[in-house]
Amino acid sequence: MRNIHTCMYLAIWIAQATCDDAVDGKLSFYSSSWEGWNKNTARWSAYEAPTFSAVFKPETEGELSQGMEYLAKHNIPYLATKPGGHGNVPTLGHYQDVVQINLDNFRHAIVNSDYSITVGGGAKMEDLIPTLHKAGREMTVGSFPCVGVHGVMLGGGMGRLMGRYGLISDALLHAKVAIWNGTIVEASDKVNSDLFWGLRGAGHNLGVVIESTYKTWPDEGGLHYNADMVFTDDSLDGVVDTYREIVKDSLDPSLFLILGYMYDAEAKKPLLFMNIVYAHDEGKGRRVAARFASSPEGTANPIVRISFKESNMNFSELGSGKAVPGVCDVNLKNTLYTASTPDLFETAAMKAVYKSFGSFVCAHPGANRSILLFEAVDGKAMDALPHDYSAYAHRGMMTTNAIIQATWDEDFDGIVAEAANAWGKEARDLLARPEVSGYDKLYAYVNYANKDEPLAALYGYEEKQQRRLTGLKRKYDPHGFFNAYRPLPLDMNGWGLPLAPGAPESTRDEL
Ligand SMILES: Cc1cc2nc3c(=O)[nH]c(=O)nc-3n(C[C@H](O)[C@H](O)[C@H](O)COP(=O)(O)OP(=O)(O)OC[C@H]3O[C@@H](n4cnc5c(N)ncnc54)[C@H](O)[C@@H]3O)c2cc1C
Ligand SMILES: *[C@@H]1O[C@H](CO)[C@@H](O)[C@H](O)[C@H]1NC(C)=O
Ligand SMILES: *[C@@H]1O[C@H](CO)[C@@H](O)[C@H](O)[C@H]1NC(C)=O
Ligand SMILES: *[C@@H]1O[C@H](CO)[C@@H](O)[C@H](O)[C@H]1NC(C)=O
Repeated sequence: MRNIHTCMYLAIWIAQATCDDAVDGKLSFYSSSWEGWNKNTARWSAYEAPTFSAVFKPETEGELSQGMEYLAKHNIPYLATKPGGHGNVPTLGHYQDVVQINLDNFRHAIVNSDYSITVGGGAKMEDLIPTLHKAGREMTVGSFPCVGVHGVMLGGGMGRLMGRYGLISDALLHAKVAIWNGTIVEASDKVNSDLFWGLRGAGHNLGVVIESTYKTWPDEGGLHYNADMVFTDDSLDGVVDTYREIVKDSLDPSLFLILGYMYDAEAKKPLLFMNIVYAHDEGKGRRVAARFASSPEGTANPIVRISFKESNMNFSELGSGKAVPGVCDVNLKNTLYTASTPDLFETAAMKAVYKSFGSFVCAHPGANRSILLFEAVDGKAMDALPHDYSAYAHRGMMTTNAIIQATWDEDFDGIVAEAANAWGKEARDLLARPEVSGYDKLYAYVNYANKDEPLAALYGYEEKQQRRLTGLKRKYDPHGFFNAYRPLPLDMNGWGLPLAPGAPESTRDEL
């Protein structure tokens, strides 16, 4: 079913289209009878996910441009993504029976002569990371191989090396973007600098990035100290105290800490674990890990470490995600909530969440792959850039991000989904309380967000920032084709209000 002439094929699902309207040449559109359909339309999360009426899989940027021009002209909604897309904000689920713009033919990652790297719009971390490693270079990248480079970068882009190099988007030098009507534009400091600003933090809203180029750094031998540890439940106070001391002492820019709650399905209870990565220095990494060793007898709030595994990993291995198997599995159901804090959440709240996590999974054993992560990294590299360097609104804030992820498989009558959202929301609301987070309001990373946060919590509370974003949306996406991912409002009165329950299915303007 490849290379079907557009006018024949599109006519099946666009009643009003006539042959004259169709673009010249052959474009690759596929219907659900295509043998590659399931693989190409799979989602990381099948919950509140977008669905597709057809897959448009361009082979060149010219085809991409022509196809988008055609879709825009006929007011046919579309969503740019790739097989197993990881985006899971529930507003994606407002996009039902849209055309998938499949970017799987744009997966290149090429190191240039100046050591910058150019990455195709459909590339995943697994395309980017080994290429950097081979060239002896590094940059901030995501922690799992299956995730799309652009979905991550366009929201800001967090990763283990962010303490050294800032966000993934902070390294962006240049992007080539197809806007809503297929017109291809460049974006950099010099050309369309307004779009360049917006792409880095609010980028899911503005166009399809065909490719983008980043600054990279020498990898200094490319080895990273990695330690994985598991503790008894009783160690929660001791582990949280130690984590807090490390963060308050000022985090080392080369360190990335993850404190996590997983579920031990055999023992039927939560499990407390920690992952430490220290870039390029085994000795310093070991010293951090040693602070989480079992405490001597008689210590108040003791730590009992029941497993400890340390190794030096190269950059490719570090990005292979093997520390948490199964994270890349597709078509499970997920709902995420997030909150952030300048150091660490208050201990009693972290204990309450540990307990509520246990109760939630105990009541719904099918949700035993749920996970809760507290990720901490130093913010100085991000903070060193001007506050308005890019649209990313939380520069230098968010030392610790909580990622509250409920995951389940089968559901009957939506019971698990309801419980998952109730638990996730309750945990988020508790962590976000001013006396627990230290912030007077919610500050949330859009890529970990759900649908109930005020837009300002994701994109910035300042009116100047909101005016700038709404101005960009009006200029580059005037009809709201890119409204799937926590859409920016086209009018200023769209700011500050949570999405109301029962809001209209689609927020796209009619053309
Ligand atoms: C297992 C897992 C690991 C994660 N790890 C990290 C991490 O290390 N760091 C981090 O910051 N976040 C991380 N996230 C969150 C992640 O940033 C978001 O889930 C993100 O939306 C994933 O993007 P994607 O390209 O894989 O998904 P998709 O669903 O394909 O895309 C998400 C959104 O981005 C848009 N988009 C994708 N590609 C393009 C493009 N080329 N041009 C324009 N728009 C595009 C899509 O249209 C959609 O609106 C992780 C998520 C998961 C599930
Ligand atoms: C990086 O680690 C992987 C996995 O252990 C290994 O296959 C690869 O050869 C290593 N790369 C280098 C350059 O050492
Ligand atoms: C964990 O969940 C899976 C379904 O996702 C289920 O098949 C399995 O039985 C569960 N394990 C336990 C011990 O409950
Ligand atoms: C495409 O959209 C942009 C932004 O809305 C507009 O300026 C431009 O004129 C459009 N191009 C065409 C060919 O319609």
